[in-house]
Amino acid sequence: MTSRRNFLLGIAKGMGGLVLPAFFRTSEGQYLLQTLATKEDVTTNEDFWATIRQAYIISSTLLDLNNGGLSPQAKVVQDALERHTRLSNEAPSYYMWRVLIKGRERVREKLAELAGCAKEEIAINRNATEALGMVILGLDLAPGDEVVVCKYDYPTTKHAWLQRERRDGIVLKWVDLDLPNTDEDALANAYIDAFTKRTKVVFITHMLNWSGQILPVRKIAQVARDRGIQVVVDGAQTFAQIQFSIPDLACDYFGTSLHKWLGAPYGTGMLYVKRDKIASLHSLFGHPASEETKISKFEHLGTRSFAVEQAIGQAIHFHEMIGMERKEKRLRYLSHYWVERVKDLPNIKIHTPMQAGLSCALVLVDVKGKSNSEIHSFLDRKKFIHTTTTDIGALKGIRISPNVHTSTNDLDRLVQAFKEFCK
Ligand SMILES: Cc1ncc(COP(=O)(O)O)c(C=O)c1O
Repeated sequence: MTSRRNFLLGIAKGMGGLVLPAFFRTSEGQYLLQTLATKEDVTTNEDFWATIRQAYIISSTLLDLNNGGLSPQAKVVQDALERHTRLSNEAPSYYMWRVLIKGRERVREKLAELAGCAKEEIAINRNATEALGMVILGLDLAPGDEVVVCKYDYPTTKHAWLQRERRDGIVLKWVDLDLPNTDEDALANAYIDAFTKRTKVVFITHMLNWSGQILPVRKIAQVARDRGIQVVVDGAQTFAQIQFSIPDLACDYFGTSLHKWLGAPYGTGMLYVKRDKIASLHSLFGHPASEETKISKFEHLGTRSFAVEQAIGQAIHFHEMIGMERKEKRLRYLSHYWVERVKDLPNIKIHTPMQAGLSCALVLVDVKGKSNSEIHSFLDRKKFIHTTTTDIGALKGIRISPNVHTSTNDLDRLVQAFKEFCK
């Protein structure tokens, strides 16, 4: 142990002259870089993930298991945000609109690389609600046109669709799902069966925030495409949590937040519009006519912080350092870790299918006979474990979502809490 430490300290000193963020000049940071270089499977390597944890400033007392709500930013991201904000404040209109603005195209390119699409298809904005609102409110739809939506979609997107129904007389066809469900064909058919000759759009949530269930977007989208139905995907919970490329989903539009699984600053989001759909989608706030066919038409949002946008770049670097495949495997391992230890306790019901491909970091657990507030307040007040609750249709319980900074020791604390609660 000592010799490994000395060895790594030696490397750290040797690399001290390089422009590395402070953390990566520490022995822990060097260990991390070394392990990453070996390409070994680190899914269960707690030493490795302990060093990742050091890249964050997370609470040492409160255990945050609601990373599906919002994720913390790594220190390198917080540092970048602070640097760019300070610079902006030296002469805001100069440094934001003449200097930082130059970095926007590089951020767009990096996001497009992550998404597996062209940079001309990516607009940077403030969150999934804005990205998807841009699509929902911007599509050309006439009274009587049908849109297939789901009872388990996220509230802000449902509100936007309901507003269109009230204002424009479109008809919403609500899909109900039998959840949890491991039958992808049955899930896809629930949507496909709702298609009629009048269906113009299908809206699909890639991963349900309520339970973490992943829906078979591609299966639904392929049928929709064949029938000339446009496909909008809510990827707020999947982007940077699980590995996929947006074009592989066969959708026309995709919206996500970047402050969840990418760990970018709060108030960052992204909209994908398939190249051939840009011209026909209206932008929410208007745009110059010369931008009709350009993705930039969706970025006329007025003044917002370019410091925040620039720090997305650091979040991407950090995410890429861990690697999507490693991250997804670890997140799924963490979910399995606690579920395996809790699932057979008295009255426990897991509402999330645990098969790979059907879920990842978000899992919904219930204790039969107990209200959400009883379970939640026990975890929150007695155990200082932060979670969130779900209560919609067939899904009721506590949603648990660890992240790359969560250790198995943390999850032992959760397991212990459930053991006490279920006694
Ligand atoms: C599935 C889903 N869609 C949309 C959103 C909205 O995200 P935001 O509040 O960042 O706009 C969330 C947030 O939790 C979500 O889980």
